[in-house]
Amino acid sequence: MANIIAGVASSHVPAIGAAIDNKRTEEPYWKRVFSGFERSKQWMATTKPDVAIVVYNDHASAFSVELIPTFALGCAAEFPPADEGWGPRPVPVVKGHPALASHIAQSVILDEFDLTIVNKMEVDHGLTVPLNLLFGSPREWPCRVIPLAVNVVMYPPPTGHRCYMLGRAIRKAVESYPEDLKVVMFGTGGMSHQISGPRAGLINSKFDKAFLDNLSKDPAKLTRIPHLEYMREAGAEGIEMVMWLIMRGALDAKVEEVYRFYTVPASNTAVGHIILENRGRTAGKRAGARKGGGERRRQAVARRGGERIASKARR
Ligand SMILES: [Fe+2]
Repeated sequence: MANIIAGVASSHVPAIGAAIDNKRTEEPYWKRVFSGFERSKQWMATTKPDVAIVVYNDHASAFSVELIPTFALGCAAEFPPADEGWGPRPVPVVKGHPALASHIAQSVILDEFDLTIVNKMEVDHGLTVPLNLLFGSPREWPCRVIPLAVNVVMYPPPTGHRCYMLGRAIRKAVESYPEDLKVVMFGTGGMSHQISGPRAGLINSKFDKAFLDNLSKDPAKLTRIPHLEYMREAGAEGIEMVMWLIMRGALDAKVEEVYRFYTVPASNTAVGHIILENRGRTAGKRAGARKGGGERRRQAVARRGGERIASKARR
């Protein structure tokens, strides 16, 4: 059976891709950003997923005002990098997983989510920048990738609740796929930013950090944030954060937050990043750990759990 073992959220700022492509990652401005993903790359190298489902938005590369699918699932065998005005990024062609993608499409459509099936598509920085941040710059991407493009560019984007429920439907689909596959979900975009108009340059760290807290511990609260609140608090392009809720909906209600990083700014946006593991996976890893250390960690987790329960009881 295929399993979603973890979720990763990451901003997908195009300037991060340009810094990689132009070999500027060691400059102090960019080193601050990239150093925050070093642990994440180690985590990914250890986790070794077979498939990554990457939720992102297209920035007028594959789609345009002529065609605006709300949710578009990439079922092709390959997705070449798009030319976004400076030629295609020098990154590997993304290799898809047509069998699993088609299975997900069938399952979620029969679950009443009307996905658009895409059998030919180029992918832009929205998808390739998070791959770089988590996998580095290899000659070939080390796992298969299923792109899920979400319209957050033209009104109306989907609601956070709809995104969360789609995540749940995707999890059900993945878990009904017979082949043993380790799947990681990516939610990309955000955090607070606005790229045009009188409020261009807006960043709201307080909103962003609360969003990260709730993504980890109380995602149901995030599903109730209306579009206008995203626009007002996180800027016009902050609406990209609804995509993180698809990732979160595909995880357990209670997850283990294994890493978080936040920095301001990168280009004109806040950069947020979090890694959440399903607890079954974490427990499995602990069971497989060396006996002495594993036992100490189990006791520490049990203590922390007790503290959480005690603090809840006090409230
Ligand atoms: Fe974007």
